[in-house]
Amino acid sequence: MIVTTKDLFKTAYGKYAIGAYNINNLEQCMGLFRGNVDSQAPFIIQISKGARSYTDKAMLEALIRGADELFPQAVFAVHLDHGDEETCYDCIDSGFYSSVMIDASHEDFEGNIAATKRVVDAAHAKGIAVEAELGQLGGVEEHVVVSEEEAKLTNPAQAKEFVERSGCDSLACAIGTSHGAFKFSGTQGLHFDVLEDIQKRLPGFPLVMHGSSSVPQDEVERINKAGGKLEGAKGVDADQFKHAAELGVTKVNIDTDGRLVWTRVHREHFLEHPDNFDLRKPGIVFMDEYAKFIAGKNEKLGSAGQLPKVRQVLGL
Ligand code: G3H
Ligand code: 13P
Ligand code: ZN
Repeated sequence: MIVTTKDLFKTAYGKYAIGAYNINNLEQCMGLFRGNVDSQAPFIIQISKGARSYTDKAMLEALIRGADELFPQAVFAVHLDHGDEETCYDCIDSGFYSSVMIDASHEDFEGNIAATKRVVDAAHAKGIAVEAELGQLGGVEEHVVVSEEEAKLTNPAQAKEFVERSGCDSLACAIGTSHGAFKFSGTQGLHFDVLEDIQKRLPGFPLVMHGSSSVPQDEVERINKAGGKLEGAKGVDADQFKHAAELGVTKVNIDTDGRLVWTRVHREHFLEHPDNFDLRKPGIVFMDEYAKFIAGKNEKLGSAGQLPKVRQVLGL
């Protein structure tokens, strides 16, 4: 059942983080629902602008509605990931999304507040929540390239002002993570001091961690062994999620790890079965492996096993 992002945040805040997983296709959608139902976890489906145009936004919506029917136990929110203003308004008008992210973090402080506030006004009029971003992550986002050195961590004093003036419902904070498979090239790690300071200034306010794939080293090794070239890939230590959750992180964004599972399954499959040309054979393996991956991630986030309680609190 699709619920509001706000309701999921209310039940999770300070106790565990909700996994926000990006999907692009049927196999990811099936694996995602199975993994979350198997591990009894509430979750957030994230749809990026790129995902909306990979096939068509209507196709993704239909997939999710189909999965919702197949898995009546599932409790989840649907969220636009890294939206620009135009895409936010399209999602708000569609009536399908529980929440949208306006990513105006590349704007200056005032520009970011102004864009976020415009989206908040439109979204709140329809009961939709808004995630905004302050500070800049390292790595590559859809339209913005920010080198790790230039990455700007979120300023906690600015975070409070930003939330109060923009009216956003959750805030993506830059605390040292970056998107993609190559995080922390040097000795960098998560800046819990920044998170702690933000939580002190914004008690009870849901924070979001982007760029949170853990880039499992066994996946990287298997991909490289099967012909891939991902030397040096590195991610976030998933054992840190629970501490982050205590500090107000209520949503943890994971996309790259799922892509790594896909890459490993398909590379190994075609290496072992060079004669195969039936797309369903690796597809079946992927859905199974992705479901297992999601269930394992939910254990790290603390969301595994929370579904009965969430259903009870939300009266489902
Ligand atoms: O942060 C970006 C997400 O990983 C989505 O990636 O824009 O390539 O779909 P995408
Ligand atoms: P990863 O690249 O670490 O999976 O981050 C995904 C993300 O932040 C989506 O918004
Ligand atoms: Zn992101």
